Amino acid sequence: MLKGKHIILGITGSIAAYKCAVLARALVKEGAEVKVVMTEMAKQFITTLTMATLTKNPILVDFYNPENGDWNSHVSLGLWADLYVIAPCTANTIGKMVNGVADNLLLTTYLSAKCKVAVAPAMDLDMYKHPSTQENLETLKRRGVYIIEPESGELASGLEGKGRMEEPEKIAQIIDSLLTDGSPLKEKRILITAGPTREAIDPVRYITNHSSGKMAYSIAKEAASRGAKVTVVSGPVNIKLSYPNIEVIDVESAQQMFKKTSEHTSESDVIVLCAAVADFTVVNKETQKVKRGKENYSLELTPTQDIAAWVGKNKPEGCVTVGFALETNNEKQNAQEKLARKNLDMIVLNSMQDAGAGFGYNTNKVTMFFKNGQPKEYGLKMKQDVAKDILDNIENLM
Ligand code: PMT
Repeated sequence: MLKGKHIILGITGSIAAYKCAVLARALVKEGAEVKVVMTEMAKQFITTLTMATLTKNPILVDFYNPENGDWNSHVSLGLWADLYVIAPCTANTIGKMVNGVADNLLLTTYLSAKCKVAVAPAMDLDMYKHPSTQENLETLKRRGVYIIEPESGELASGLEGKGRMEEPEKIAQIIDSLLTDGSPLKEKRILITAGPTREAIDPVRYITNHSSGKMAYSIAKEAASRGAKVTVVSGPVNIKLSYPNIEVIDVESAQQMFKKTSEHTSESDVIVLCAAVADFTVVNKETQKVKRGKENYSLELTPTQDIAAWVGKNKPEGCVTVGFALETNNEKQNAQEKLARKNLDMIVLNSMQDAGAGFGYNTNKVTMFFKNGQPKEYGLKMKQDVAKDILDNIENLM
């Protein structure tokens, strides 16, 4: 499950580079976005055209594009990635990584990377056994680099022994577990309410709001990519997800959303109440379409069940509950009041006063308030990045 993950695949000059086509394909098939950085030597073993076709991204080799002077920033690449895997990784590159040599883009990217780094060594058995290689690998391990052990078997030289790069399918599996391992959300059940609700007036009309579901579905995708089992109770939205570990339960009204959320509450480790639930519903729903008349027409409204408040009262022991507050005024005060009244562990404030925040946008600007702890204010970001911030904070609370 690599959907939404950013992976840099570094390729160095080894015959095992031919296997990178299969590795890139496996990563892309799992949903990852892959950018390839190659050394000059690697280009002798596998073409940039093959890798660019498979990853649908340009291949990075030089510090800049000689045609137009475009700079290939190793710093932004290093920040973009969730994981940097160098496969195959030669003894030469391993030695340079240990010594901080920065004479190609693959190495400068390694030195700038803030993400997890994994290397899959590939070399002849004697090079692999050599004390300098073994000591270098130990040093990298000590520095937190994950070493994907090579296999024993027939080597390209014709010799038999340890040094053959791990098979691409296995490397893809290791990457998958490296990206979800360590997350407290792995295998945990997370329940998310999403989208708007619709409160029927008659068979053809309803009361609703502008929620698109983008914020909630971004949280669902990010949680799934951290290994959680996700249930989304969703009002009507135009988003379709097909992730093996995300179940979407479609509902329309606030009452239906309450029913499905309450049914799943007791089994949940984390509950995120992101839906824009109607606060009022129509008392007497008409069974026939209301006809146009001369008289004014009034609707009697009654409050809906406050799902977040119910969850706050009925959540199972240890369950982390997170609400949202969409405000137009007195933002911080209202958010803190909702955090306390609904007995939540955290509330995410987004304000209609902030450009690019709230309903419909691909971006959001949030401040998080905690039952215990200081508020955290964030800048305007894409909703998928806001989802990461929210889940990082949820992980801290778990
Ligand atoms: O869907 P998008 O277009 O991406 O927009 C995202 C969003 C603006 C909908 C989202 O970020 C957001 O703020 N969701 C909550 C909207 C809202 O209804 O806020 P509120 O302040 O009215 O409600 C406070 C909390 O109580 C919320 O967690 C809400 O889900 C919950 N609530 C409210 C009423 C109700 N009957 N039941 C509830 O559970």
